[in-house]
Amino acid sequence: MRKKIVAANWKMNLDLTEGAELVNDIFNGSPQLTEHKIVVIAPPFIHLTHTGAQLVGMNHVHLGAQNCYSEASGAYTGEISAAMLKSAEVEYVIIGHSERREYFHEDDAMLAKKVNLALANGLKVIFCCGEPLAIRDANDQNAYVESQLIAGLFHLPVTALTDITIAYEPIWAIGTGRTATSAQAQDMHAHIRTVLGNKYGDTVAADTSILYGGSCKPSNAAELFACPDVDGGLIGGASLKAAEFLGIVAAMSNA
Ligand code: 13P
Repeated sequence: MRKKIVAANWKMNLDLTEGAELVNDIFNGSPQLTEHKIVVIAPPFIHLTHTGAQLVGMNHVHLGAQNCYSEASGAYTGEISAAMLKSAEVEYVIIGHSERREYFHEDDAMLAKKVNLALANGLKVIFCCGEPLAIRDANDQNAYVESQLIAGLFHLPVTALTDITIAYEPIWAIGTGRTATSAQAQDMHAHIRTVLGNKYGDTVAADTSILYGGSCKPSNAAELFACPDVDGGLIGGASLKAAEFLGIVAAMSNA
């Protein structure tokens, strides 16, 4: 049975005090979670040990990181390895976010290396895909996203797929206030599941969680999460305010 997941991607926001307050407020909001309806919180690296300590005893809330480096160790000033994340008790790592692809020039080959290192170190991967507006306008989004999945993931053996979650984040919907319609999200998520099924079989496809990201908020989360192939969300801006984030988590809990 695949999990429903609401994951918070704080991006480069919140200092240590603000982050601790936010986690505290989320805890006090008593989100209704189960083994199959979980939350992941991915703060900036500097928060990880502190946030991790706060999450001890919070059932079904897991620690995530926003990135890791594509080499195992060595002279890469400023970078953080998958093994370091594992040693900090991180469980999930986001790989391939469009902001990493665009601003930090992370290409498919680099992302595939990151995926390999993350899995080799026992982390679960939230692998991001999604098309820019020009591709959507040309109605080429299905082929574009399929090529991202092939390049980033399809070298993996089938056994690795249990540790992969996919996040579909159309770039034109990230931070813009313009959400994909639930029909657009469902169409793409169904396409992603078909692509996974063609490569890895129907069971893997049915068991893989596929999250939607891009201007997801309490007012649209319920409709998005009601789609049969939308298994939750990867949340940016609305994950920075406890009330909004809890509203989105409640939409998952009720889905
Ligand atoms: P917003 O929710 O701010 O649109 O960001 C989505 C996102 O990029 C999450 O990774």
